[in-house]
Amino acid sequence: MSNWSERLKQVCILSARLVLAIAFLFSGITKAVDPWGTAFKIQDYLIHFGLNQLVPFWLYPYMAMALAGLEFYVGLCLMWGIRRYFTALVSLAIMLVMTPLTLWLAIANPIADCGCFGDALVLSNWATFGKNVFLLLCVLLLWRGRRLATRFISENTQWLISVYGLLFVLLLMGHCMYHLPIADFRPYRIGNNITEQMEIPEGETAPEFDTRFVMEKDGKQQEFTLDNYPDSTWQFVDSYTVQTSEGYVPPVHDFILERVSDGEDITDQVLTDEGYTFLLVAYDLTKAQQGTVDLVNELYDYCNAYGYTFYGVTASGDEAIEQWRYDTGAAYDFCRMDAIPLKTMVRSNPGIVLLKEGTVINKWGSNDFPTEEYFRKPLEQTTLVDTDGSAPYGTLWKVVVFLLAVPLGLITLLDRVWTGLLLIGKLRKKSKISNLLKKKKMRKKIVAGNWKMNKNLQEGVALATELKEVLAADAPNCGVVIGTPFIHLATVAELLKDSVIAVSAENCANKEKGAYTGEVSAEMVKSTGAEYVILGHSERREYYNETPEILKEKVDLALANGLKVIFCIGESLAQREANEQEAVCKAELAGSVFHLTAEQWKNIVIAYEPIWAIGTGKTATAEQAEEIHAYIRSCVAEVYGAEAADDTTILYGGSCKASNAPELFAKADIDGGLIGGASLKAADFKGIIDAFK
Ligand code: PGA
Repeated sequence: MSNWSERLKQVCILSARLVLAIAFLFSGITKAVDPWGTAFKIQDYLIHFGLNQLVPFWLYPYMAMALAGLEFYVGLCLMWGIRRYFTALVSLAIMLVMTPLTLWLAIANPIADCGCFGDALVLSNWATFGKNVFLLLCVLLLWRGRRLATRFISENTQWLISVYGLLFVLLLMGHCMYHLPIADFRPYRIGNNITEQMEIPEGETAPEFDTRFVMEKDGKQQEFTLDNYPDSTWQFVDSYTVQTSEGYVPPVHDFILERVSDGEDITDQVLTDEGYTFLLVAYDLTKAQQGTVDLVNELYDYCNAYGYTFYGVTASGDEAIEQWRYDTGAAYDFCRMDAIPLKTMVRSNPGIVLLKEGTVINKWGSNDFPTEEYFRKPLEQTTLVDTDGSAPYGTLWKVVVFLLAVPLGLITLLDRVWTGLLLIGKLRKKSKISNLLKKKKMRKKIVAGNWKMNKNLQEGVALATELKEVLAADAPNCGVVIGTPFIHLATVAELLKDSVIAVSAENCANKEKGAYTGEVSAEMVKSTGAEYVILGHSERREYYNETPEILKEKVDLALANGLKVIFCIGESLAQREANEQEAVCKAELAGSVFHLTAEQWKNIVIAYEPIWAIGTGKTATAEQAEEIHAYIRSCVAEVYGAEAADDTTILYGGSCKASNAPELFAKADIDGGLIGGASLKAADFKGIIDAFK
């Protein structure tokens, strides 16, 4: 797929995700802010499905909180691009249930408002269905591309977003449940005038309703209207209201107060009262909390003392009212009103609403009822008169911005900065390593054997022949050298003439030529066809007393005769234990090779061989070896410059085997090995050479 269409796809997925995130967050928050409202809505649905008998009443608020919490959490995850599979799956499941459900709502119209966004945004049922079809399309897009969703927070920090978000929504729900919703989107919110909310704008007509009466005579029931109301031989059974024509339904259309004692409709009287009216609102007295009844009674006394009106308002029947009076000693009058406006008015059972000329002045949930300290002066002189709470979003916005968006934004910002710093660090490290590897790549890698005083001529020839065949069949990825005793040199050099293997002597004299019985000069070595000579080996330093001065002479002669030198250095165990390895190596280099010109230096290979590791089976760890190799290279750099140091091959020697070679050779400053024991068998030696593959 082209870059352009790939990008377009990503933009579409991101947009779908953000649309869904906003929809879920908005829906979750508006439900969380009004848990009782959501609970009543769930109850409505279950009543319509005939399932309400299965659910105990106390469960509804928990169901509401679970729904709001889930929507909010899914929205949060979608917004930050975390838990991508979970959120895509849950949002798909939600939309697959909600879309057909809202289609049914739109067609059958059993509930006028679906309640998706609480009371904050009321959509018609068809608009809701349209919205859900759009969201379903977004979910399907997201489901297909869930793996492409970019996360806005790193995996290590995402738990902070989840935990903070969940804590936020739980506390918000708890607060709004215990007190009243912090945002009130209903027509009875503080500051609204109920009479105005009941008005039908000019040009609109009110819907028409008709009352149907169910009457009974001689065991037979029949329905009547007011127009054909039957004579008194019929007995009243029930009545209900049906809507007979469409029209404008004002926000408040069912606020009808009927005094229980005389059946009088006192709606107008209450809504036009110029004084204050307290309404104790309890849609169902049998479920109302009685913990605060003393306060209610004191409030009633206060009203009597200052001339304020006080009514209990309920949808409960006479029996429940009597029971309430009996239980609480209530002396106030009761009015009856439909349960729906009572539930809508205040999300508490009981709650208190304060009215003046039809305007809602204040309201309280049962956990915040005014206490007696307010009851000593007229209302105007107390803070109970709150005409300021008219902006429904006021507190909610502040809570969402300062307690949700700002902290989550800060977490995200810190996470991004931290991740950015880590990334820069990683890139730097990567480029450092890649530079090192590049340099390492350019240097010559060598695996050199050192047969020492092993193998007679025939054995040596056989070993060289075998090695030649093995490496001809499987070419090495590095230079290969074998260091043999003098007696093999000419034969083996001839044998290996056309092979990848170079030949090295293990020593040469520190004299040019002449009467030095038993010695072999550098010139003689060169004449055999050998290319290298090993000098400075610890065994020669120790057993044949080769001093730095002698070695210096040997190095000079070897180079002068066109040989390359594998120059060995390394500390003893005692020196290592005294942490003198760096000083020893530096001194050995300074004593025998650091006098060379830069040009001559090009023919020097260093072999670091800790004496305690030679032939003992003890290897320096890769880290130990790398540390000192890097130090040796820095010493070379001091004398010949960084570039020459980068080009210098530094081998490791001392119990190097096929098993440890890969780890050693992988180090940035280790360029191969000088192998003793393991170079005496072709297979073992080949195993080490293969460490470069
Ligand atoms: P080793 O010898 O591999 O047997 O330890 C190394 C050397 O002396 O060069």
